[in-house]
Amino acid sequence: MSRPVVYVGMSADLIHPGHINIIQRAGDLGDITIGLLTDAAIASYKRLPHMTFEQRQAVVKNLKGVTAVVPQHTLDYAENLRLIRPDFVLHGDDWRTGVQKHTRERVIDVLAEWGGELVEVPYTTGISSTQLHRSVKEIGTTPNIRLARLRRLLESKEIVRILEAHNGLTGLIIENSKVVIDQQTREFDGMWSSSLTDSIARGKPDIEAVDVSLRLQTVNELFEVTTKPLVFDGDTGGNPEHFGFTVRSLERLGVSAVIVEDKDGLKRNSLFGTDVPQSQAPVEDFCERIRVGKRAQITDDFMVIARIESLILDKGMDDAVARAEAYIDAGADGIMIHSRRPEPSEVFEFCKHFNKLSRGVPLVVVPTSYSGVREEKLVDAGVNMVIYANHLMRAVYPQMSRVAQSILQHGRALEAEPMLASIKEALSIIPENAA
Ligand code: SPV
Ligand code: MG
Repeated sequence: MSRPVVYVGMSADLIHPGHINIIQRAGDLGDITIGLLTDAAIASYKRLPHMTFEQRQAVVKNLKGVTAVVPQHTLDYAENLRLIRPDFVLHGDDWRTGVQKHTRERVIDVLAEWGGELVEVPYTTGISSTQLHRSVKEIGTTPNIRLARLRRLLESKEIVRILEAHNGLTGLIIENSKVVIDQQTREFDGMWSSSLTDSIARGKPDIEAVDVSLRLQTVNELFEVTTKPLVFDGDTGGNPEHFGFTVRSLERLGVSAVIVEDKDGLKRNSLFGTDVPQSQAPVEDFCERIRVGKRAQITDDFMVIARIESLILDKGMDDAVARAEAYIDAGADGIMIHSRRPEPSEVFEFCKHFNKLSRGVPLVVVPTSYSGVREEKLVDAGVNMVIYANHLMRAVYPQMSRVAQSILQHGRALEAEPMLASIKEALSIIPENAA
């Protein structure tokens, strides 16, 4: 007589004795089929796993007692259960509360359709994936792992959320900021090294006067204290003959993507629009810039994303769409469409045209001027990455100015205190201060 089938759903990212206990208990009941959650299923409710699906599959397949591994594409078990019709589902009893409570109830209901049974084993205390994840973060990451992470995020998340960073402190804020909404953790997926804020931080205008070497110093500073991926604002890419070297340097550090914009001559910040003289490169010249970048990269994972300035420079929608097509043909790994309008209508119109192109490459937007747009609406329009491009810099500048004014005004610092972090708070930003 064949043994009963036991279905066990798991992420199996950082395997620990808790997992082994579950698998041993499942083995006591029958033949084990692991429903291995895909990256997308995991990213739908928490951070992306450290290991890719294929890596996790290779580990799980070789655990004693496991007879089959199938992908589970959603947090919800129903689809796989109806396909496999297991006799048992086995899970730790920790899912009775929290984000998986509803999933558990669905499992019980679906199993009832053929008389299957949910078996729960006591949660193994003293070790958890959350603790292990914290330890892994403390150890850090490698350039290769960090670099490849952006493509993984793009493949597994509805929208990749990026925030501007211009020094170690802002990097740490992006690394650690979290909110929990409907029991799901929401955080930033990575950092944007903005030419605007990196220049402002150095007291310089955003005209490529802060050269690539200095910009790379900032990236290095960010990488010393973070593990998340970084998208680099490459401005115009500089002299086309130099762009290949920039790509190599970025890739060596572990930067995931460079965004180059299709301007030429003296670059000014896009949000000036047509108030200042700035010009767009001929399509073919910019295509060549993309090709130079693509030829220079060594890994398959690095991305050269082409940024279209047609809407910024009032060149019209047709020009923007034609350029998107040409840049994709030239090898761009993604398109960024920029707009300086106070509402997102022209971006949404671009999205409609973009979705009709044979695309296969992600679309990036930067809602600085149209900040009222919600991420859900961007997802609906087909946007894959949103960059909040300057917000941490814009947050600190007004407060710093007010504090400076107040000290001058009062001839002492007391009146500025309500605007300040306490010394205790300031010290605790960096936990090692206390060590
Ligand atoms: C930047 O952040 O430097 C950018 C975006 O390039 S924008 O400032 O809107 O041009
Ligand atoms: Mg810029």
